[in-house]
Amino acid sequence: MSLKTLQDLLDEGVDGRHVLVRSDFNVPLNDAGEITDPGRITASLPTIQALVDGGAKVILSAHLGRPKGEANPKYSLAPVAEALSDALGQWVALAGDVTGEDAHERANGLTEGDVMLVENVRFDPRETAKDEAERGAFADELAALAADDGAFVSDGFGVVHREQASVYDVAKRLPAYAGKLVEKEVTVLEKTATDPEHPYVVVLGGSKVSDKLGVIEALAGKADKLIIGGGMCYTFLAAQGYNTQKSLLQEEMIDTCKDLLDRFGDKLVLPVDLLAAAEFSADAENRVVALAGIPEGWLSPDIGPESVREFAEVLSTAKTIFWNGPMGVFEMAPFAKGTEGVAQAIIDATADNGAFSVVGGGDSAASVRALGLDEDGFSHISTGGGASLEFLEGKELPGVAVLNQ
Ligand code: 3PG
Repeated sequence: MSLKTLQDLLDEGVDGRHVLVRSDFNVPLNDAGEITDPGRITASLPTIQALVDGGAKVILSAHLGRPKGEANPKYSLAPVAEALSDALGQWVALAGDVTGEDAHERANGLTEGDVMLVENVRFDPRETAKDEAERGAFADELAALAADDGAFVSDGFGVVHREQASVYDVAKRLPAYAGKLVEKEVTVLEKTATDPEHPYVVVLGGSKVSDKLGVIEALAGKADKLIIGGGMCYTFLAAQGYNTQKSLLQEEMIDTCKDLLDRFGDKLVLPVDLLAAAEFSADAENRVVALAGIPEGWLSPDIGPESVREFAEVLSTAKTIFWNGPMGVFEMAPFAKGTEGVAQAIIDATADNGAFSVVGGGDSAASVRALGLDEDGFSHISTGGGASLEFLEGKELPGVAVLNQ
């Protein structure tokens, strides 16, 4: 795949030009509205800094959460503007609107090396509209912010699987380039998707089997082993006949899991023991149990220690590893051991066996940081959860495809 990249744009020269950048600043916030994991902001900095250094007038656009087409202070990008100002060491002004008067006035007032952010693009219902003309009208307004001699840089890898105005349609309206993050992510994931060194081990977790079906189907043919933990493993265990009590279960997927076990049983690696807890609370009584031993009315929020050992053994021989989804409710300390153990096994396989290891975005990347694990211990930590999964499934990502046109 050949993308026009930020370097091509820098070679053309950006001094004094408006450059509209789509970033993914969809960061987790706590109840006080504070950013709990700035990973995506950190990952966006190299592109922004290169544009600043080149003298561009930088206009950043991004979404936060799913505000459903209405301005809602809960989803304002204000905390992001503050974090960016600190990280870049220069003021990043936040417009009071997305493509309105304030955004235009601020964009016109930028001087070389200035950076501004427009409000959450999803405050406008046209951003996510199914109708191409509606999205197009919004994309026209976004492109107009970059004035006559402008350019567009797509750097929000986490959102390139969305056919949305600020990701896809705007790229048809301005000269468009892949930012450093999108370029790096596409390069790494392309290598993993098309030419993985074997043994290739995929670790899947997270709550819903239905979200991972496509990837299981697509990867069962390519990977040597698919390790399954986290919330989705209980539907597989139920398909094997275990009573999972009050553990997470997608009942409507049990038959699908049976079918997957029939077809790919030799490749699927499931837990062999579990941690059971009396209730969904960090303070609840808990103990390690056999698969058939979850006490009545209890649930399992994590895999057990023997499972971690078995998973680690499979991982120790891998040459390529892709990991998406935590093994348990790592946000609660008593239920974090499964995720921590598997993450450490991936780090060890990377160091000791020379495995090429990729962490696929979202919760897994956040868990690495939350658990204080060594981020440099992995070959690549993707900023895209859904995007990296769709890439590995072999789906075309609209926000990447449009950059090739
Ligand atoms: C993500 O968090 O995966 C991306 O920012 C995309 O967000 P979305 O799933 O709300 O489109």
